[in-house]
This record gives sequence, structure tokens and C-alpha cells, in this order.
Amino acid sequence: MTYEPKMGRSMQGVVTGFHDKTIYQVYPKSFCDSDGDGVGDLRGITRKVPYIASLGVDMVWLNPFFVSPQRDNGYDIANYYRVNPALGSMDDFEELVAALRAHGIGVMLDMVLNHTSTQHEWFQRALAGETEYRDFYYIRPATSGLPNNWVSKFGGPAWAPFTGNSASLGITDADAARNGFTRNPAGDDSGDPTLYYLHLYDVTQADLNWHNPRVRNELAKVVRFWQNKGVQGFRFDVINVIGKPEDLPSALRGTDDKRLYTDTPIVEQYIKELAAASFGRDPESVTVGEMSSTSIERCIAYTNPDNKALSMVFNFHHLKVDYVDGHKWSRKPFDFQELKRLFAQWGVGMERGGGWNALFWNNHDQPRALNRFGDPRGYRVESATMLATAIHMMRGTPFVYMGEEIGMTDPEYASMDDYVDIEAINAYRELVATGTSTQEAFAIVHSKARDNARTPMQWDDSAHAGFTTGTPWLRPTNQSMINVAAEEASGKILPYYRALIVLRKKYAVISEGSYEPYAEDHPRVLAFTRTFGNDRLLVLANFYGEETMIQIPPEFVGGSIVIANYEDRKAVATNRVVMRPYEAITIWQR
Ligand code: NOJ
Repeated sequence: MTYEPKMGRSMQGVVTGFHDKTIYQVYPKSFCDSDGDGVGDLRGITRKVPYIASLGVDMVWLNPFFVSPQRDNGYDIANYYRVNPALGSMDDFEELVAALRAHGIGVMLDMVLNHTSTQHEWFQRALAGETEYRDFYYIRPATSGLPNNWVSKFGGPAWAPFTGNSASLGITDADAARNGFTRNPAGDDSGDPTLYYLHLYDVTQADLNWHNPRVRNELAKVVRFWQNKGVQGFRFDVINVIGKPEDLPSALRGTDDKRLYTDTPIVEQYIKELAAASFGRDPESVTVGEMSSTSIERCIAYTNPDNKALSMVFNFHHLKVDYVDGHKWSRKPFDFQELKRLFAQWGVGMERGGGWNALFWNNHDQPRALNRFGDPRGYRVESATMLATAIHMMRGTPFVYMGEEIGMTDPEYASMDDYVDIEAINAYRELVATGTSTQEAFAIVHSKARDNARTPMQWDDSAHAGFTTGTPWLRPTNQSMINVAAEEASGKILPYYRALIVLRKKYAVISEGSYEPYAEDHPRVLAFTRTFGNDRLLVLANFYGEETMIQIPPEFVGGSIVIANYEDRKAVATNRVVMRPYEAITIWQR
């Protein structure tokens, strides 16, 4: 089936920079393994460039592939300038950049600048007693207990003794050799056990002290290095927590620590400074900041072009509507009204302030949206395409996470042994230790683990999904049903994504139009309009597996259908539209 978008009264040729672009996210470890070691690599990605190009995307975001002990799958960087040999070489990277460029596709790199691995040379030199490197991190004495009461986002306190403890952390010489670094050159008995270092994430991810200008210079150098390799896109990991208050105060209430170190006013200044010293010098650069627990007001400041900071931001509020009281490791059906409220609030708020959103359902940290908001069993195709419509028709830049475009789902794991992610393993332990039954703890991990998104890309229905000839580092489970080959042959999700990507390029009303929520109280349908000059679209998305009726404004009755996920939807003939399960319709105003 092909979706040939209908021409409307579009105003073309007025799109700016990244507004009409779509970005495709590749998790290198899980995309394609070229050498049979069970782990995806850069050459594997190069092999699949024709597929990526066939999607029509403009840029590929690659999760970190730098030298790293892989305690947090590459977000623990030990060397920003080198490729992890387990994933390839610098030549492989350059080849990949060239192959993508030949198709007009840019590269977006993941810059993890809030923290380094404790195996990074800076941390090791600090451990070895070089005082100037101690000031690269937050290293503090503690008179009683720990320097403050902050907690790590991966569980436990955010402080660890400042010692070269790689052996006790399970980083072995074999790990080091495989991943291209020398384990703990400062030695396991180096450091000073009366001091502590701050780690908001894993104990091997030490937070960098951005207040130190030397740190900021070094990090700008890293960005420039990759710019010189032809990179024009940068995704900045947890960038809104780089401005910790210098006195590192304890939170008054246990859970308030986040507020103390998130989105402090200095963050904006540091981002602008980084922009001026690196990516901001390239007018074609595209940047996205990952913003944890953020606000519209801050995100406007980060992305309004007058501010010369970032192109766009990821916020995560819409992906917490299935958390109980804001806690990830819990289960409840998603709160649709809250989801609608958040989309409306962010859509309208960011537009008013001249800000720009990155639009997404999925990434490597989120369980598959299809499992959370759709029905992967009863209505996989309908709900996958409905969810895609909702995101791709909004105001912002859409991101597609590998496998989303073929309707990949969470794996059907039956035991904790299948999970690899440190976050999931810690969470399971913590849940059980605090009284949750093992059964419920497993159910929670099953629905929330990041591994859900990290299973290998399913290329075909073979034993390892065409991902590897070896043993995959994470096991795929349903490739016999869901895979690229099957989608290419007769699937409906992949062509639908391709059509959505084309539409954004074709119609300025999609890439540039203003956004207005519609039917905000409707219990089942997400609805909004997009307006650009005389062009106007109405987008309707039924988030449920039952039929529902929605009344639409008269000017859309009889309007042509831009795209719909039920092939027989050719028109809306009355203002009372009966929408079928997970139906999505985009209509031109008459
Ligand atoms: C956000 C990344 O997306 C996630 O995968 C990582 O664990 C944390 N930042 C820490 O770097």
C-alpha cells in the first residue's frame, strides 16, 4: 500500500532549518552487528544506510559509541575522542558519516557532558593526587555521613568514596581491553576514602564541575573535535542538571533534591557559552537538549532562537502519565486526560514563547510507546500509526526511534535473567527489598525497563532477527511476526511513517503552522488544528480500542483527507465523525 499525500493549498519554500526535518535515532549496540560478536557496531549501521535513507529522514542520532566501560551502555565515557573498539574505529565512523552524507543525511552525536566515567583520565588523575583535576568533579569531605542527602537517579545515595574502586565495581581488565581503555591507571588503592564524589547516575559516572572554566573549555573542545569530523547535530545528555548550586545544599525533604540542581539559572548561560565556543558557529547545526523534570519557561529560554542556545528540547512530562505519584517503578494505565493536557500546555506554551519542541514517543530509555499507549496485540497496526500521526502532525521536530517505524514492541521476557540494564536490576532489588512481591516487582520491570527499547532491530524472521550471526547481547522475542522484511513486503506501518515524513517536508502548515488544541474534554480523542496562512488542518486521533464519536468544526466537513490510517477513510461527510478503534485522520479545511 502506498500513501500518496494529496496536494493541498500549501505554501512551500518557507521552512526554516530543522522544522521540516525528521530525525531517526539509532542505538548502535542494537542496530546491526557486522562482525558477529553479538553487539551492533558502526559498520553495521553503514550497511543499513540504504534502509535509513529509504525512510526519508534528515539526520541520524547515534547514542554514544565512545570508549567506555559500558556500565551505562556508553553514557559512562572514558574517552570522548575515541571510538570504542567493540563498536568500531574512527575510520568506520568517517565511512558512516560519508555514506549518510551521500544521501543528504546528517549525523547527530550524543554528548554526555554532565559526567564522565570514573575511568576517564581526568578522574584518574584526580585520584592520583593531581589537585587541579580534583576540581573537575565535585569532591567533598563529609563530617558526618555524606556531603549531602541527594540520591542517585539509579538508586542509593549520590555520593561514593573517592577511591579507585574499579575492582569492587566489577570493571575488569578484560572489560577494559575489549572497550579500549586501561583499567584504573591510578590504582585501586589511590584516592582518599575520607572524601566523596558526586554521581547523580551510576557510581561510575562522576558529575563534572561545570563551574570550573577549565572543564567548560575541555568540553567545548570535545564538541569542536566532532564538528571537525563533519558532525552537525548534537544531542546533549541531561544538560539541564549541569548547574549544581556550588554549596551543594541538602534537600529539606528527601525527594526535593532534584529541584535544587535542575534548571538553575546558570544552565542557560553555560549552554550559550558552549554554543558560542562550538556548534553555534555553524549556522546549519541542529541541537537538542535532554531536559529532565523541566518547565516550559526554561525550555523557551533554551530554544528561542534569539537566545542562541539550542535548537530544541526533549521534555518527558508526557511519558510520565503512567507513573504512580511521579514514580517510574510503578504501574497504572496511562492517564489520557493528563496526556492531552500536557500536549496542549507544551504545544501552546512553547509556541507563545517562540520555543521549539522535539517530538517523540520512544527512545532508548523508554519502554515502547506501543505497549504503553496502544494495543500491540489487538490493534498493533492501527495504534502504531495513530501514535505516529499524533506526534508527526504536532508543532516541533519528530524523532523516530529505530524499530518504531515497523511497530516493534517490548520483548516478551519471562525472567529477570533476560534484563541487562543496571537501572532495571537495581530497581528490581530495591522494590523487593522494600516489600514489593517478586511477582509484582517483575511485572513492573517488565513494563518499565529501558531494555524494552534496546532489543536488537528486527530485520527479518531468522533466529537472531538478522541482527547478528552471533549471540545477541539482548534477546529479541517476536521477530517472526514483526520485522523489516515483512513490513517492506506487505506491512502498513513503515509506508505510513514514510508518508508522514514526506508530508512534513511538503506542507508548511505541518512544519511551521501554529498549533491549537481542539475538543480538550473529549474522553477518547486527541484533537488539534494546525494553521499557516490560509491553510488549516484538523488532526484527530482515537487513543482507544473502541469506536467513539467526535463533533468537528463545520469548515472541515467535506475537506480532503491528508492522511488516514484506515485505508477506506476517504472523507468526513458530516460534522459527527465516528472514529474506529485507534483511527487517526488528518483533514484539510475546505
Ligand atoms: C540520559 C540517557 O538517555 C540515559 O540513557 C543515561 O543513562 C543517562 N542520561 C545518564 O547519562
